[in-house]
Amino acid sequence: MTTITLPAYAKLNLTLDILGRRADGYHDLCMVMQSISLHDDVTVTLTDADSIVCRCGMLPGDDSNLAVKAAKAFFTETGIVPRGLLIDIEKRIPMQAGMAGGSTDAAAVMHALRALLAPELTTQKLEAIGAQVGSDVPYCVRGGTVLAERRGEKLTTLNAAPRFRVVVCKPDFSISTPVLFNHSDSVALLDHPDTDGMLHAIEERDVLGISARVFNVFEQVLTDEQTEVFDIKDQLITLGASATAMTGSGSAVFGLFTESGQAQLAFHNLRQHYQQTYLAEFI
Ligand code: C5P
Repeated sequence: MTTITLPAYAKLNLTLDILGRRADGYHDLCMVMQSISLHDDVTVTLTDADSIVCRCGMLPGDDSNLAVKAAKAFFTETGIVPRGLLIDIEKRIPMQAGMAGGSTDAAAVMHALRALLAPELTTQKLEAIGAQVGSDVPYCVRGGTVLAERRGEKLTTLNAAPRFRVVVCKPDFSISTPVLFNHSDSVALLDHPDTDGMLHAIEERDVLGISARVFNVFEQVLTDEQTEVFDIKDQLITLGASATAMTGSGSAVFGLFTESGQAQLAFHNLRQHYQQTYLAEFI
């Protein structure tokens, strides 16, 4: 086998809490993460060339691309003799959305390289390599319903959450992750998610309990130019969402739905105003 195509799933933050700033400049986090069906397709092909070529739509395919970084980290950390690679990424996940679009492509590249070259490698090892590539990559390697702590690399797999339908809407503006973290350092974060309650609700498959605890601490530090996030949340609630939040460092906003008809209606409604609107479900 010399080529493999894998889906790279987007993530949502059901909760996101910042516990504090660390000496290394990163932040200790506590997040309940959930994979959704919206995905990119990542094809990795072994070639006879001595370079890694990455084709990813309009995005640069150089070393700044997390998929390329992941391939290089994979070879360095496993000691496997580097191979020429062609990485093709068909993007669907919106960029700069807080949905781990780049991180999930990186994770898919590592899964593909394992399948092609080193099937004996453990998922734990892939996650450890992923931690060097980006904070969200270990979670993307694992996927599912997961509690992610510290920088994002301490993972605890939870019972699969009930299969909510999801409408995700990405406004036109984007939010810089480092700027948002810096901003969060300079203001008092008065409200925090009830993470324990969320873990309990997931354990019990309690749809109402989960919905009541969806919360992203970053919503408190948005600027006046970013209030469209709250407009979209309001629209999602009006359209029947049982919960809404910004995901990660934004700017995408999601609504959870228990009925697929309502989710479809909300999707079509929001799609009229926001080109980057998506209908998906938990996986
Ligand atoms: O690890 P990654 O490159 O994805 O992180 C992007 C930025 O997000 C970091 O440069 C840092 O500013 C911020 N970050 C953080 N604490 C984390 C994860 C990310 O401060 N746990």
